[in-house]
Amino acid sequence: MAGNSVGKEFVVTCFGESHGKCIGVIVDGCPAGLSLSEQDIQAELDRRIPTQTKIVSARVEKDTVEILSGVFDGFTTGAPICALVRNKKAISSDYDIIKDVPRPGHADYTTRIKYGGFSDYRGGGRFSGRVTVALVMAGAITKKLLNLFGIEVLAYTTAIGNVRLDRKLTIEEIRRNKYKNAVRCPDLKSAKAMEKAILKTKSEGDSLGGIVECVALNVPAGVGEPFFDSLDADIAKMLFNVPAVKGVEFGAGFKAAELKGSENNDVYVIQNGKIVTLTNNAGGILGGISSGMPILVRAAIKPTSSISKEQKTINLSKMEETTIQVKGRHDPCIVPKAVPVIESAVAMVLADHMLRAGKIPKVLKERK
Ligand SMILES: Cc1cc2nc3c(=O)[nH]c(=O)nc-3n(C[C@H](O)[C@H](O)[C@H](O)COP(=O)(O)O)c2cc1C
Repeated sequence: MAGNSVGKEFVVTCFGESHGKCIGVIVDGCPAGLSLSEQDIQAELDRRIPTQTKIVSARVEKDTVEILSGVFDGFTTGAPICALVRNKKAISSDYDIIKDVPRPGHADYTTRIKYGGFSDYRGGGRFSGRVTVALVMAGAITKKLLNLFGIEVLAYTTAIGNVRLDRKLTIEEIRRNKYKNAVRCPDLKSAKAMEKAILKTKSEGDSLGGIVECVALNVPAGVGEPFFDSLDADIAKMLFNVPAVKGVEFGAGFKAAELKGSENNDVYVIQNGKIVTLTNNAGGILGGISSGMPILVRAAIKPTSSISKEQKTINLSKMEETTIQVKGRHDPCIVPKAVPVIESAVAMVLADHMLRAGKIPKVLKERK
């Protein structure tokens, strides 16, 4: 089966290629009665790319969303919502070389093997970061839906290369600062150091990776469908579908392996009549089911594979070794642009599971 759709009740299908006519998304299963306009999606698209900075690719397109279906009179109808943006700024000639000479670290070689040379390689085609515009559009719809039920999803940068944010952030700080700088790190001092690291690496013809953390607040306890559709399993799967994500961890994550049970266990207490835990090493999920604590997940993003530094590769037609210096407009670091993508990806899984758990109705309110 083709793998372009995700979700059981809130089903998101994405389509389009980097240098094709458009990037689009179909959201099927969104309850009727959600107030939704093109402006709601446009606002998220406008925030997708940090502006006035040299740390993102020169391919800065003003993406204008069109909603083609599923919305009538300002509200979702319960029918599939199709939204798209048309591609404008493609320079396909930059990519002629990768038809035969795969970039190390990108999907050029594996797609050639899988699709027999028929796939659209221009700009990375279906494997371009640009395809994640679809996720941001779906995320805009999803976050609006979740907000109605008090759920807020916030993603932000915590590391770029070896520059790490080394203090705990408050939720207020994250809300206030996350879009205040180009790297999307809510700590402004760390953000400056991160930006500097990216610019230095870019000047060397190289790239950097980093970590995006995502927190989901007010997810009620009891959401998740073990065994195989556990909440953490579905979030992890979704995040691994975001291009360039190479690692996912929840709560204490890999550090939990170093802790003793007495250190790792989140002990229960009652605060203001509510059951909570004093720590959140579990990242808000136990047994694949939400605990009512914030869901905390981190995604490790690899350094951009398309770099101008010369690297060894092969010419597939001639079956000989060669070298490549990648041209085209590439991000020296994917992390800042991945922030809204990760936020959207987590939100989509939560919406699907909230619907499956019966915590979001199929009709939000009856029309009077
Ligand atoms: C928002 C975003 C932007 C990206 N931009 C680039 C880019 O400019 N150049 C590049 O080589 N890869 C970029 N990527 C990563 C590639 O799409 C990805 O590495 C490729 O599809 C191979 O997939 P994999 O890294 O998950 O194995 C981007 C990814 C995301 C999420």
